[in-house]
Amino acid sequence: MEQSVKGQVAIVTGAGQGIGRAIALRLSQDGMNVVLVDLQGDAVARVADEIRANGGEAIALSLNILHAEDRQRMIESALSTFHRLDALVNNAGVQRIALPLDVNEEHWDHIMDVNAKATYFCCQMALRHMIEQKNNGRIVNIASIAGKMASTTYHPIYNVSKAAVLAMTKTLALYAARYGVRVNAVCPGMIETSMQDMVDHEIGRITGQAPAEIHVERNARIPLGYMGDGADVAAIVSFLVGPDSHYMTGQALNADGGVLTY
Ligand SMILES: NC(=O)c1ccc[n+]([C@@H]2O[C@H](COP(=O)([O-])OP(=O)(O)OC[C@H]3O[C@@H](n4cnc5c(N)ncnc54)[C@H](O)[C@@H]3O)[C@@H](O)[C@H]2O)c1
Repeated sequence: MEQSVKGQVAIVTGAGQGIGRAIALRLSQDGMNVVLVDLQGDAVARVADEIRANGGEAIALSLNILHAEDRQRMIESALSTFHRLDALVNNAGVQRIALPLDVNEEHWDHIMDVNAKATYFCCQMALRHMIEQKNNGRIVNIASIAGKMASTTYHPIYNVSKAAVLAMTKTLALYAARYGVRVNAVCPGMIETSMQDMVDHEIGRITGQAPAEIHVERNARIPLGYMGDGADVAAIVSFLVGPDSHYMTGQALNADGGVLTY
């Protein structure tokens, strides 16, 4: 049976800002020791300082999940600092706006490399350790409702990459279940972060609309009527990492104000 997460260790990628920062703060509030990873060293160091100021334990690593040696360092740092690894939250992701006929191969490679390939190999590296340690490991992948539906045609490759995250979540969940390791996903909808600000700005460049106008149109498509924030996603991650979800694996839970009902 899974235990309380207090004193357990979680890695959170892309923890320097936005949803990843909120997940790191939440898992620390839950009592976990957290390893924070981001390309932006200064940002992730500030989040670690914030956690320590609140009485939690955190280390910050400035690294790029695209690089195998950096992914190795991520796992080794968790083990050398906290001597165990219980959970991995694959949150780091990138977004780019272009209509389907304007996408080029460089665009495809960049989005797929970070969102799909690096996420897969982070899972693989953590799984090897979790299977060996027999410690009921948990992996939570931050996908998107864009992986379940064509939420817009302005980011076709992002949609493809998030569908890949859902496919790997289901496949790895089936594989890892026999070892007591659970793999689930969260599908955020429209969440207030700088990634979403960039999306509004870039779509506005194509449509000629002001970002504020796009924002209003988007809110009108959300049944609950407003965008979520990082803490809304973090609460679901907390549940999937924690023991109350012990009978769930291979799932993809939406945090989207009711946009999707499947
Ligand atoms: N904001 C939304 O509305 C929304 C909706 C659905 C899904 N998501 C997903 O949630 C996750 C977080 O999104 P966000 O809005 O907080 O984005 P964000 O851009 O605010 O933050 C992403 C973080 O990931 C880091 N990162 C990017 N590439 C990296 C790499 N190669 N190595 C290490 N770190 C890297 C960035 O430096 C940044 O700190 C992403 O996977 C995103 O696709 C966001």
